[in-house]
Amino acid sequence: MTEMTDGVLHTLFRTEQGGHEQVVLCQDRATGLKAVIALHSTALGPALGGTRFHAYASDEEAVRDALNLSRGMSYKNALAGLDHGGGKAVIIGDPDTLKSEELLLAYGRFVDSLGGRYVTACDVGTYVADMDVVARATRWATGRSPENGGAGDSSVLTSFGVFQGMRASAQHLWGDPTLRGRKVAVAGVGKVGKHLVEHLLEDGAEVVITDVRQESVQAILDKHASGKYAGRVTAVAGTDALIRVEGLDIYAPCALGGALNDESVPVLTAKVVCGAANNQLAHPGVEKDLADRGILYAPDYVVNAGGVIQVADELHGFDFDRCKAKAAKIFDTTLAIFARAKADGIPPAAAADRIAEQRMSDARAARAV
Ligand SMILES: NC(=O)c1ccc[n+]([C@@H]2O[C@H](COP(=O)([O-])OP(=O)(O)OC[C@H]3O[C@@H](n4cnc5c(N)ncnc54)[C@H](O)[C@@H]3O)[C@@H](O)[C@H]2O)c1
Repeated sequence: MTEMTDGVLHTLFRTEQGGHEQVVLCQDRATGLKAVIALHSTALGPALGGTRFHAYASDEEAVRDALNLSRGMSYKNALAGLDHGGGKAVIIGDPDTLKSEELLLAYGRFVDSLGGRYVTACDVGTYVADMDVVARATRWATGRSPENGGAGDSSVLTSFGVFQGMRASAQHLWGDPTLRGRKVAVAGVGKVGKHLVEHLLEDGAEVVITDVRQESVQAILDKHASGKYAGRVTAVAGTDALIRVEGLDIYAPCALGGALNDESVPVLTAKVVCGAANNQLAHPGVEKDLADRGILYAPDYVVNAGGVIQVADELHGFDFDRCKAKAAKIFDTTLAIFARAKADGIPPAAAADRIAEQRMSDARAARAV
């Protein structure tokens, strides 16, 4: 056995990061498919989580990513109130050169072989059109296009959920669930960020935006130049400037992961962080640095769950209003996390983990009876 395999197996069987129920290695040499499907937990129901298609530096890195991402999905699904456990798959290789219809169908057959224990969806490197292909080989694929029975783009409900998290933060901190008159910074105005800006303006916030794509910033400034809503929007050049804006109430990372790190946290002027980006905390301990500075952190995986709520709903025949009602509950969940954090004297990120773990262990105990 090589050292590489030893390392992953050690993580899986012997460490806190392991403990997954099942990890499946898939190969189809005819199409070049190499994939890892990791099922962290099915305590709450079939494992649900997307498929990442990425050119990993090594196979070991791919397996580790599948293990980490699937564990994260268990927590996310538990706190979203879904009857789903956590799973995630990675396809190893450059999607630009390796992706083909045949490969996606081969992948779909592997997903199907798990008989519904794993339900897949889009992630980095896979798109709605890809899930349409995967779904031809298995009924356990969501994130499909509306023409193929799917719910399509999930960013509408993701941004709505983040907005609920912000309202809950405002309620907790200022005693009123409104962003009216608050200064909110949105870093990244892509699919989620642009909808979030709309919610904020409608609610009367003063929004400051930035994006590496100047066209995206300009499109928003142009759209809201007429001042249809009570709020107003301006822009600054770059996230570095954004996090230092004077008098900021809320900072919403809506671009890439790792936005909260040893450089950004000490200079952040906001009193709250609540945004859509996954994995905002660059490393363990950042949640404590935020708490030490008196900055309230609404855990990313809690407030950005609108997307997974949407793909879960797709399994039952997508209904937008039913989904929106579920995503609205992110308000109560976020408030409950802040309350638990205060009661236990821990940062909200740790409180969220505790509540999710409780839900999973209650389900396991109920199943054992
Ligand atoms: N789309 C969803 O439903 C969903 C669900 C859950 C989580 N998320 C997470 O939310 C984040 C945003 O998702 P999205 O779907 O809007 O992606 P997107 O690619 O449409 O938007 C990201 C935006 O960030 C900008 N950007 C990239 N680097 C930047 C930087 N350094 N500074 C400022 N802007 C930068 C990009 O130009 C782009 O406009 C991602 O982290 C994603 O994983 C998205």
